[in-house]
Amino acid sequence: MNWPEHGGQPDLMKKLLQAEELEVLDFSANLNPLGPPEWLQGELEAQWKKLLCYPDPNYTSSTNALAWIERVDDDEILLTNGGAEAIFLAAKYFEGKSAGIVHPAFSEYERACRHYHLPVTDFITSRVDDFRLPMNQLLEALPDLDVLFLCRPNNPTGMVIPKAEIKMLLEQGLHDHTFLVIDEAFVDFVPSESLTPLLKEYPNLILLRSLTKMFTIPGLRLGYMMATDAVIKEMKSYQVPWSVNALANAIAPLLLTDKHFVGQTVHWLDEQTKKLQSFGEMNDFYLSNTSVNFYLLQDNRNPLKTETLFSFLFQHGILARHTHNFKGLEGSHLRLAIRSDEENSKLLTILKKWRERV
Ligand SMILES: Cc1ncc(COP(=O)(O)O)c(C=O)c1O
Repeated sequence: MNWPEHGGQPDLMKKLLQAEELEVLDFSANLNPLGPPEWLQGELEAQWKKLLCYPDPNYTSSTNALAWIERVDDDEILLTNGGAEAIFLAAKYFEGKSAGIVHPAFSEYERACRHYHLPVTDFITSRVDDFRLPMNQLLEALPDLDVLFLCRPNNPTGMVIPKAEIKMLLEQGLHDHTFLVIDEAFVDFVPSESLTPLLKEYPNLILLRSLTKMFTIPGLRLGYMMATDAVIKEMKSYQVPWSVNALANAIAPLLLTDKHFVGQTVHWLDEQTKKLQSFGEMNDFYLSNTSVNFYLLQDNRNPLKTETLFSFLFQHGILARHTHNFKGLEGSHLRLAIRSDEENSKLLTILKKWRERV
């Protein structure tokens, strides 16, 4: 089958699997099921007239508000058209230079590097080593790399690289003139793991953020990046004018100050994750040790039957995310979103049926 690059496309998957009439719950997109915050629709409606004017090309007031929230200087932050634009700007910054990517990881790092002609060295982490970074290999490779892309928290495993290892790489990177681009698209789900405080210490650190996941706004397109003022200035020079639309610009500070919504989400996640992990332990399924709103799943008793499990879930109305385009996984696991209690319970009931069958 011609597997799509990204999750969250239930209609396309139904078409590919010739089951257009089937009702499916979409566990393939890793968005917050509690979102968006209730006030968002009213706020977008109230602000719709912003669409009648060009946004401020410098996004001054939202940038200043974000800088204040993140405790960085105004010129150390750049608003972007989703996390995806931040990834492509980062690749553009290193155009023609050499990159490393730690896999499995979001596929757009590779695409962005290809687009800007960066030769890429792949570093593969695997389940056998609990997806730990190959630190010796990385430290040895840094002198030959201009930039290393890391996804933390990681998509698709949901796991978080220990801060001490990041610091070790940054220290060595300072010495070797190597940058670390760290995609924190999911860090809002584990706020204590944010690396923002390290920006002051390490001028070779570039952080990428997305508001898409926590606030369930994939259609609004909103993200930002943080780095030194010199790096941000250059990134900005590559950005398409008015790249961030006027509504996204108006809404950004309101979203990031909604700590109540984030708190509710973190609480929901904690409860659901415990329930899922304990199901996995009791029924012999591997679940990655996730800190965020999705996880990898494999049937420990039938590790080679992942594709059959995918079809079984689909026939029972659950759309999982395949892992065929994640280097190091090549389809061996499924990625599943953590959804509402009711939806997760439905998933567990179907997994139980699978267990009774195989
Ligand atoms: C790790 C990671 N970074 C960035 C993005 C892109 O986010 P956005 O929708 O804000 O462009 C995604 C989307 O799936 C992602 O998984």
